[in-house]
Amino acid sequence: MDNEIKLAVGAMVSLGVATAALVVLPYIEVRDVKPAEGLKPYTSAQLRGRGVYVANGCVYCHTQQPRDKRFAPDAERGWGRVSVPGDYVYDRPHLLGSMRTGPDLFNIGVRQPSQDWHLGHLYQPRAYVPGSIMPAYPYLFEVKEKAEPDEVVLKLPPGHSPPGKIVVARPEALDLVKYLQGLDRSYPVLPPEPARPAP
Ligand code: HEC
Repeated sequence: MDNEIKLAVGAMVSLGVATAALVVLPYIEVRDVKPAEGLKPYTSAQLRGRGVYVANGCVYCHTQQPRDKRFAPDAERGWGRVSVPGDYVYDRPHLLGSMRTGPDLFNIGVRQPSQDWHLGHLYQPRAYVPGSIMPAYPYLFEVKEKAEPDEVVLKLPPGHSPPGKIVVARPEALDLVKYLQGLDRSYPVLPPEPARPAP
């Protein structure tokens, strides 16, 4: 009996310590994080697009966390400055990612602002980057004879449109691209250094 009580108490203590270390302390650390100045909340179209990003598993190949230059030359790769907690305040759930099969997308809106490029690249990555191993997402588009007046027709590189047909973006593709175009954390996060007095 004595041993069983010891076992139960030991299990409770281990669980309590683990919960404090992994849940309570991290929560206390981040609960007061304010949004970075310059960070805009997502629009409703961007939030829908974020849902499309999650549903299609983009996070399995793309991170959203440029690292400090001591760990990786992310700034030299053009992925932007190291991210800070305030950059993620509106990200629920966060999409930090852990695999970099493709480039980091935390600032893709700065690097690639073109809607035409994003739509075409999602329809067929290899039309833009020969040898790309990114999957194509043809079901975000529709192949038709003729577009309705409010539809967005893809401007694909020569040889990539289905013969005699056009490709139009479905609403999911348009929302996803709005989300990607909005990924811009190029605002400064640290106060500028005080100007040094002239020698
Ligand atoms: C199997 C891994 C994989 C998946 C899944 C994937 N990608 Fe990619 N992605 C890549 C690779 C590799 C590249 C680099 C080659 C290229 O540009 O096509 C890339 C490039 C990109 C680029 C251009 C980045 C740049 O710096 O030029 C964007 C934007 C992008 N992916 C968006 C997405 C989105 C949105 C999804 C989900 C719908 C997605 N990717 C899913 C592997 C992936």
